[in-house]
This record gives sequence, C-alpha cells and structure tokens, in this order.
Amino acid sequence: MYPLIRNRRLRSSEAVRNMVRETIISPSDFLVPLFVVEGKGIKEEIASMPNYYRLSLDNLTKEVKELWKMGLHSVLLFVKVPDSLKDNSGSEALNENGLMQLAIKTVKNACPDMLVMTDVALDPYSSYGHDGIVSNGQILNDESVEVLAEMSISHAKAGADFVAPSDMMDGRILSIREALEDEGYINTGIMAYSAKYASAFYGPFRDALDSAPVDIKNVPKDKNTYQMDFANRFEAIRETQMDIEEGADIVMVKPGLCYLDIVREIKNEVDVPVAVYQVSGEYAMVKAAAEKGWLNHDAVVMEQLTAIKRAGANVIASYFAKDVIRIMG
Ligand code: PBG
Repeated sequence: MYPLIRNRRLRSSEAVRNMVRETIISPSDFLVPLFVVEGKGIKEEIASMPNYYRLSLDNLTKEVKELWKMGLHSVLLFVKVPDSLKDNSGSEALNENGLMQLAIKTVKNACPDMLVMTDVALDPYSSYGHDGIVSNGQILNDESVEVLAEMSISHAKAGADFVAPSDMMDGRILSIREALEDEGYINTGIMAYSAKYASAFYGPFRDALDSAPVDIKNVPKDKNTYQMDFANRFEAIRETQMDIEEGADIVMVKPGLCYLDIVREIKNEVDVPVAVYQVSGEYAMVKAAAEKGWLNHDAVVMEQLTAIKRAGANVIASYFAKDVIRIMG
C-alpha cells in the first residue's frame, strides 16, 4: 500500500518550494502610511505603535527619500492637527496652507514620482473626533459629504495623485468624483475605503493623531452609525459595488487579518484593484507579542502579509512595509 499522489514532493526542498509558491509579496504591493505633525525636527515615536513615528515636514522629506530608495513608491498621508485648529466642520481641512496640503507638496518636492494618496475624513480636524459634522447627537451625511468633496479638491490642487475617503458617508464617492471632474482634476484617482468596519483595532491610530471621538454629551462615543458592523458580509459587497458605480478606482477592505474572508469575496466579485489596510492595532499586537518574546516578529509579519495578498489584496497599506524590505533583504 502506498499513496497514489504524494503532495510532499512539491515541498521536499527549498528550490521546489520556491518554484511552486503561489503568492509572493514585493515592494510595489505596499502603500506606506505616514503621520505628519507641525513643527521642525520632530520625530516622535507613537506610544502604542513602537518604532512608528510622527514626522514634521523636514523629517517627512528624509523619510520619503529613504522609502523611495528602498523601492517603496507610494505613501498614504495623515496629519495630526493641533486642538486649536479643530472645529465641528473641519474647516482647517480646506486651508490651502494647511498641514496636509504642505505635506503633499513636501513629498512631491522630495520625490516627484512618489505616488501620493491622502486620507479624506474630518476626524483629525474635528473637535469631536468624528469623520463628519455632528449635530444633535447625529453625524450629518450630506453636509459632511460637501466638505469631503471640497477637501478632495484641495488635496488634488496641492498635488495628490489619489484621494482616499475613509469616512463611510453615503454618496461621497460620487460627490468627490463629480467635484474632481468639475474642477478639471480628471486624473486624480479615488481609493475608496469601501468596506470599512467599526473596529477596535483602530485604537493606536487614534492615539497617533489624537483623533478619537470625544466623551461629551450629545456626541456619539463610537463610529457605529457610519462604519460597518463587523458581523456583516453582504453589506460589504453592496458598499463596494456602490463605490465602484460611483467612480472609485480602487476599493479597500479594512482592517486586514480578521476580514480576509471579506477580501476574498470582494476580490471574486469586482474587477477593480482591491486594497487591504493592515491597521494600527494589528501592528501593535505583533510588536507587543514580539517584545515579550512570545512570537517571532519577522516570521509573523511575512506570514500575515502573504496571507493578506493570498486573500486577494492588490495593494496593502501596512506599517510593516519597511520591515518587509529589511526582512526580504
Ligand atoms: C480616519 C481613519 C482611521 C484609520 C484610517 N483613517 C481611524 C478611524 O476611522 O477611526 C485607521 C487606521 C489604523 O488604525 O491604522 N477616518
């Protein structure tokens, strides 16, 4: 008696394993999130994201040059806005000389060919820490969408290649697409956070930007009325199809690891590139376990990112991008 088929033959040496490997991650898969702060000479480590930093514009220049040399050619920009500039409608988001607008120009100056994507949502600018305008305990949809469209124009004007609306308001992709077309930004793309779940994994990111919903009366304490319920699947497909119909060039699923079933379903369903955001909490978990010596950092990083790509990601936003380059040698 012997097995008719021996699958172990294709696993029997490193050479054959390398030959038949189905999924290989490479530097061009990655989109590197960067956190920008006001000031000069600032490189502050984020407490809940070890070895990840908030950078002032001068250090942003250094960082993107380094990324470029490493083969990392796309960045996703976020800004930390001082409290004194925050209000309910995020008016600082439209400031032509605001931090985001300056950050876009800084990156393009340092590396003209770097692909620049920008986060579009009100939370870093909102005195209440919400992605939209708050009124009577509600997040106003249509009024928020208007600001998000203006914000997108402002980013396009500053030189962004893609805007990435992460707010989950209804109809924002169509409004942003129309606004970009009307203003002549026909080549500015939209990467829509299409299936963005209300997730506890965003905690460290909200520390990084000081953007968590505030605890005041008549302000919702969570984002459950606009981000998706993590129990839902069909809704993710519906959200994604709608964003594509409204003009999204790339759609995103977020967070990563807990949502790879959704990534695969969406990948099978749509024909635009699919992005996955491996979020701050996922990063923090690996760092914490590795620090304790409980997990092998590099091995776990490669396994998780390969799994994300295997599930169907064409683009991966990850805080581990530089680690991957180091690990791959
Ligand atoms: C803002 C935004 C968030 C993230 C990306 N854009 C936070 C949130 O929705 O509260 C999370 C990213 C991460 O956790 O790494 N709309």
